[in-house]
Amino acid sequence: MDPESEEKPCCNLSKKVKIGLGILCVLVVVAIVVVVVVVVLKLGQAHTHKEWNGTGTTPHFSDIILGRCYTYTQIEQPELSQKDCQEIVKAFQNAFLSKDPCSSREKDYQPLLNLTSQTIPCGKVVFWSKAGELAHQYTRVQREMFTLEDTLLGYMADGLSWCGDAGSSDMNYQSCPHPRKDCRNNTVSVFWDTVSKRFAKSACGTVQVVLNGSYSNTFDKNSTFGRVEIYNLRPEKVPTLQAWVMRDLEGLPSHTCSSSLINDLKLILEERKIAFTCQDDYRPLRLLQCVRNPEHQSCRSVM
Ligand SMILES: *[C@@H]1O[C@H](CO)[C@@H](O)[C@H](O)[C@H]1NC(C)=O
Ligand SMILES: *[C@@H]1O[C@H](CO)[C@@H](O)[C@H](O)[C@H]1NC(C)=O
Ligand SMILES: *[C@@H]1O[C@H](CO)[C@@H](O)[C@H](O)[C@H]1NC(C)=O
Ligand SMILES: *[C@@H]1O[C@H](CO)[C@@H](O)[C@H](O)[C@H]1NC(C)=O
Ligand SMILES: *[C@@H]1O[C@H](CO)[C@@H](O)[C@H](O)[C@H]1NC(C)=O
Repeated sequence: MDPESEEKPCCNLSKKVKIGLGILCVLVVVAIVVVVVVVVLKLGQAHTHKEWNGTGTTPHFSDIILGRCYTYTQIEQPELSQKDCQEIVKAFQNAFLSKDPCSSREKDYQPLLNLTSQTIPCGKVVFWSKAGELAHQYTRVQREMFTLEDTLLGYMADGLSWCGDAGSSDMNYQSCPHPRKDCRNNTVSVFWDTVSKRFAKSACGTVQVVLNGSYSNTFDKNSTFGRVEIYNLRPEKVPTLQAWVMRDLEGLPSHTCSSSLINDLKLILEERKIAFTCQDDYRPLRLLQCVRNPEHQSCRSVM
């Protein structure tokens, strides 16, 4: 066979088609180069994020807080329906994007606090420490009571993680600083300290705290309650703090109101001129524990 014959079809192509193929080739090469450059830049960007020891930003963080903001202001507490959720989410993001997640400050969150002011009625504030689930069941039933997570900002941020990076305007979805392993002043801890402080400062009337009698540190001076909230209560507005020390139904040997840890709490409050009362296994909370475990020995007499 004539070796030339295989080449023939090519040489029969018109000049126009050849030019067309040439242009196509160039376009394909250009497209490949663009894709490679974009991928390299993206990877490079991802790598500019620092690596931390805590969980990264919750996927879809911005959508979640926007949705929660609307749910809260339109459905849960319609008296707040005038709040601008778009602005609130923007202020939330601005508090930490393009910033070092280990140098977060209270004032980063100030614009967000300004947009989310909310009045909690006197005598309706419930703090908790190591007993969040029970405290939240309580306020879910006692609808007029509020834990921090029943306020707009607490509701929006509950259970989420978020952080940015000084070298990038993106969120870091890979990792965020861990409060103990990385840094104390991280975006999430500073947020909770800041909103807890405002929550305690604005409290009025008798306040309550649900404490966990089955936890080794029933009153923990390092907890948000022991470190931030009790020191920000205003004695002129808050005459009394009522503590409920709740032991689990299946509890190990545990703390009660007469434990020395509870006495530490009492002393701090007395020094701050706030009266202190304490009750073990407060019945309304015990009933909630029993709803989950109605056949338990200690529930027969309660019902
Ligand atoms: C927040 O509001 C207070 C008083 O309403 C105002 O003095 C302050 O400048 C505001 N701060 C920010 C950061 O918007
Ligand atoms: C109290 O702490 C124990 C031990 O950490 C835990 O298992 C239990 O769920 C906590 N109780 C409440 C009411 O949160
Ligand atoms: C935190 O993570 C870094 C690397 O990501 C690791 O080298 C370091 O040992 C970790 N620190 C702790 C306390 O886990
Ligand atoms: C965290 O921030 C507070 C208040 O801005 C500051 O007093 C403290 O020194 C900071 N702690 C660390 C470990 O940077
Ligand atoms: C409280 O926490 C800080 C920082 O996380 C730590 O250095 C300190 O030892 C803790 N104190 C107590 C009493 O646990």
